This record gives sequence, C-alpha cells and structure tokens, in this order.
Amino acid sequence: MIRILFVCLGNICRSPTAEGIVRARLQAAGLAEAVTLDSCGTGRWHVGEAPDPRAQEEARARGIDIASLCARQLRVDDFHAFDYLLAMDADNLAHMRRMAPAGCQAHLGLLLDFAGPPGRSVPDPYYGAGDGFANVFALIEQAADGLIETCRQRLEVQHSEPGDGAR
Ligand code: 4NP
Repeated sequence: MIRILFVCLGNICRSPTAEGIVRARLQAAGLAEAVTLDSCGTGRWHVGEAPDPRAQEEARARGIDIASLCARQLRVDDFHAFDYLLAMDADNLAHMRRMAPAGCQAHLGLLLDFAGPPGRSVPDPYYGAGDGFANVFALIEQAADGLIETCRQRLEVQHSEPGDGAR
C-alpha cells in the first residue's frame, strides 16, 4: 500500500483537484486498491469547506467529481501516516519542511517534480480569473502519469520482496 497526501494552502483549489485527477487515473490503471490518497492545506481558513466552485466546475467538465471532498489542515501525524507529501508550490513545501517531525521517513517534495524540469509550482488560482483553474488542471494532469508510474514501480518492488514468513 502506498499513501499519498497532496498539500496546498487552502485545500479548496489545487490539492483537491490533484486528489481527484490522480484518483481517476489510478482507477483507470487498476491501482485504486493499492494507493490511498488524501489532500489538505497548510492554512486553516477553509477547513470544513467543499472545493471552490470553480475547481469543482473545472473537474466536472472533465468527468471528475470532487464535490464531496472536505478541506482540512495539515497536521503533524500526517508525516507518519503518508509515504509521499506532495506540495503544490515552494511555499507550501517550505511550510511542510518546517513542520516535519524529527525522523520523518516520508518523501516531501513538489508534485510537478513528477513531470518535466524540477522545481516547478502549480500557481495559486484563488484570486485570479477562471483560466487559472484550467491551468491548474493541465499542470496536475502532466504530473499525474509520472506519479502513477512511480507508484507502479514501487508496488512491483514491494510484490517481489519476500514476505516475513519467507525470511
Ligand atoms: P489552494 O488555493 O491553496 O489551491 O486551495 C487557495 C485557496 C484559498 C486561499 C488561498 C489559496 N485563501 O487565501 O483563502
């Protein structure tokens, strides 16, 4: 089992979109049972809210339903509960690194490092026009396949390792 947490600022635009896109692709790849997904925000302003209507609409137009997701804030136990904590931008990655407990084994990084040149951020669309949401969707789609390929390889390694009983 692989556990992935997507992290943005408010957990109402970018990270729920990432959760929805990657969930749909995992289902298409037959890996939905092997990978657990969640999303959260480093800020707490929108805790308890559904995704922004503009993010919901962008996803719905592409056949992905994120309406039932509910915003929550990043917490210290997430660093133990997930294998990958993937930030949407450099500010949120820096926040995660400051908050990570000593001995944290999880991979902390940028989602877009799974596609194209490293170091790219998904821009915050909250205060911008609607096309910011289309851009968010397109950028996350670019990274989704690379992330799923990483999951597939990791699951193959896990399956080929001998179980406890064989050692
Ligand atoms: P998100 O977008 O981090 O992609 O969910 C934002 C949502 C809300 C705010 C900022 C960014 N805000 O300032 O309330």
